[in-house]
Amino acid sequence: MQWRKGRDLRELFLAYFEEKNSVRYPSFSLIPEDPTILFTIAGMVPFKPFFLGIRRPEVLRATTSQKCIRTNDIDNVGRTARHHTFFEMLGNFSFGDYFKKEIIPWSWEFLTERVGLDPNRLYATIYLDDDEAFHFWHTSVGLSKDRIVRLGEDDNFWAVGPVGPCGPCSEIIYDQGPEFSCGRPDCAVGCSCDRYLEIWNLVFMQFNRNEAGELIPLPKQNIDTGMGLERLSSVVQRVKSDFETDLFKPLIDKACAISGTSYGATPRGDLAVRVISDHVRALAFMIADGILPANEGRGYVLRRLLRRAVRFGRLLGVDRPFLLDLLPTVMELMADPYGELLANRATIESVISLEEQKFGRTLEQGSILLETEVRSRKARGETALPGGVAFELYDTYGFPFELTQEICSEQGVSVDEGEFREEMRKQKERARAASKQLASTLSGTLYTELSETLGSTVFDGYDRTEATSEVKALVIEGAAVTSVEEGDVVEVVLARTPFYGERGGQVGDRGVLEGPSGRIVVEDTVIAAGTLTVHRGRVVSGTVSVGDSVTARIDVERRTAIRRHHTATHLLHEALIRVLGEHVRQAGSLVSPELLRFDFTHFAPVTLRELERVERIVNAQILENEDLRVAHTTLDEAKKQGAKALFDEKYGEEVRVISIPGFSTELCGGVHVDATGDIGFFKILREEGIGAGVRRITAVAGMPAVEQALDTARVVSELELRLGGDPDQFVAKVEALQDEVKHLQKALAEERLRVHLARVESLVAARRDVAGISVVTGLFRNVDDQLLRSVGDRIKAALSPVLVVFAGVTEEKVLFVAMADDAAVQKGVHAGNVVRDISRIAGGGGGGRAQTAQAGGKDPAKAEEALAAVQAVVEKLVSGK
Ligand code: ALA
Repeated sequence: MQWRKGRDLRELFLAYFEEKNSVRYPSFSLIPEDPTILFTIAGMVPFKPFFLGIRRPEVLRATTSQKCIRTNDIDNVGRTARHHTFFEMLGNFSFGDYFKKEIIPWSWEFLTERVGLDPNRLYATIYLDDDEAFHFWHTSVGLSKDRIVRLGEDDNFWAVGPVGPCGPCSEIIYDQGPEFSCGRPDCAVGCSCDRYLEIWNLVFMQFNRNEAGELIPLPKQNIDTGMGLERLSSVVQRVKSDFETDLFKPLIDKACAISGTSYGATPRGDLAVRVISDHVRALAFMIADGILPANEGRGYVLRRLLRRAVRFGRLLGVDRPFLLDLLPTVMELMADPYGELLANRATIESVISLEEQKFGRTLEQGSILLETEVRSRKARGETALPGGVAFELYDTYGFPFELTQEICSEQGVSVDEGEFREEMRKQKERARAASKQLASTLSGTLYTELSETLGSTVFDGYDRTEATSEVKALVIEGAAVTSVEEGDVVEVVLARTPFYGERGGQVGDRGVLEGPSGRIVVEDTVIAAGTLTVHRGRVVSGTVSVGDSVTARIDVERRTAIRRHHTATHLLHEALIRVLGEHVRQAGSLVSPELLRFDFTHFAPVTLRELERVERIVNAQILENEDLRVAHTTLDEAKKQGAKALFDEKYGEEVRVISIPGFSTELCGGVHVDATGDIGFFKILREEGIGAGVRRITAVAGMPAVEQALDTARVVSELELRLGGDPDQFVAKVEALQDEVKHLQKALAEERLRVHLARVESLVAARRDVAGISVVTGLFRNVDDQLLRSVGDRIKAALSPVLVVFAGVTEEKVLFVAMADDAAVQKGVHAGNVVRDISRIAGGGGGGRAQTAQAGGKDPAKAEEALAAVQAVVEKLVSGK
């Protein structure tokens, strides 16, 4: 077998299936359209609607090398030869076209003749009763019976998730030889060790599993296959793990160089560099597809991976930020064919760098906490750290167990690993339960089924605000009904509608549905199952039934405000790029009738001056009053024209492009004004940071912008009345006023001090002598601790040995301040102990050092009594010495 590079194997595969008349698509985004899964976990994910028959495929045969992320076993990544978070899946797909008869001999031909694998080392597994697959392996390929192994559902039935397309599968196994075996006597095909390696999974997509767990035959029989490029490369390159292939080796080497380790030296070191190499690839690809660090969802996975990589760096003794040093290697390895890495390089760098720095600080805090915890346990004579503490550190600070173990072992303390694993298991359980919940609420069977029978709702609302349509379905509390009556809260599906269902940041429309015998007020419109527009509202009169012809009319004024804000968002986006730079990318948006919100990547607060420039550019474009152009084209064509695209558009599909001639071009499905002048006026309200490297601008356009301008003008007029003169001078005037206030406050404080200092003499005169120590006490009203200290200092200067104890009272509380000079301390006085004891009398507590201390109390009425107790406390302290 010829040695081949990973990239050549990728090309070999795609070219082979092109020969078989498949269309080669570039990899789809890591963010799937399917709301029930977080990431694209397999090559078939972007094609799911084609398999289900919900959407008509534009081709019948496709092939991809798909970027995938799997997160079900992050903790195992790096520990085995094969686990990855990010990996590439080579796949080919048939949508109701070729089936088992074709794919089985093709896969054999590809592996044995194109790649050159030894046919004598290959096996095939098939699903228990799949005699058809057996037949093609045996007769078409000529594989002997003993090399075709029947396995059960666990091994040979593949499903994308608990619900969705699935089917029996056939896996091709490559025998790497006895030296790879686990050595167990029953090690054979199906064993999970590395000897019998599954290299290619051929799935015969025949069913859709519904929420009840039933297998519903799909309208057509499909093929979905998947072969991990990393794994295939390891076989062809005859190395023991994916990490030793040319797809990973340069990263491993780089990680070793950074940490001063060498691969193969210690298992711990190898684990760490494998984790780092895997995760840095995932980070680069995730950020390139628009994922940003967050505390939930995809952004949380990103954050976890970054943290895990950093921590494993620490284990190797790297305690400076280092991930960026690996990025050039990722680029060299992957930027061809994954051009998105280069296109988003600046964003990837900034996001990683900020997040890594931030995490560095968190780690520091965590280490201090752990060290304190370990020390105090040791002081109590304990020799083990409970697993729960280790888990908390893991959960809150992202400390890997290994790091906790290491810090503990330096202190001679062990960690209860069993308990830690148990906590981990419990947490996984919770996560699993939560994700099941997610799947069932979002993919609600009812709407999936409705979408299968009804197809897609036609959206009529780009140039109309009213349409006549037929009621296709009525839903009350999750159940389909045939008719609804006055008072019912209902969801309505129509054949076609001018109502825009919330998507792409634009909120859903409101309006009315007028039937022959009833009327529904629509309060919101959403999209269900990806294809259906669902009108949510209430029947305000009469009845409405399935089959009724209704007039659907949207709230036009509200829609107009939405259109203004949507087009203004496009103008804002472009203006931000012009003012701040090309790194600005949309990270989210909200377009409503009241305002717009635009989130974007940028790494510093936007200055007032920059915001003004943005406002000028946007308003200048509004005044240009350019007609908007709407075109439908392919994604490739749109990108060629320089259209801004979000991350989840699908290649090959028709896309809608909104252009503002001479200014901006953007892919968008939303509703827009006819000409920019319709927006009227644009004003930014606020700019703020909402996460590492992500800023948010809130702005208004049209009437809300006019209202905003009027509000500001009103405030200015009121200031004019109060301040007088020219508004240009307001800032200077307010500054002068603030200075004056500061000055007066200072003068007042000095005056107060003077008044209270006048008490020094009488306080000194009223001192008591306790065992040769002058004890001075005093009660003050409405003063701060600083003043008490200043007065105390004066007294300390006049007497020695001396203890001063003051109480400062307000309506609600009392503050005790105690100060002792060194001579008093030598005699046994302890300011901390004094305030601790006397503050109890006033319902409080506190303490401090021997020389100075303070404490609070909740009961000001007891302040006198507390001061009276000072003498006794001092006597006790001095006699106890
Ligand atoms: N979708 C199949 C898998 O991921 C090919 O194994």
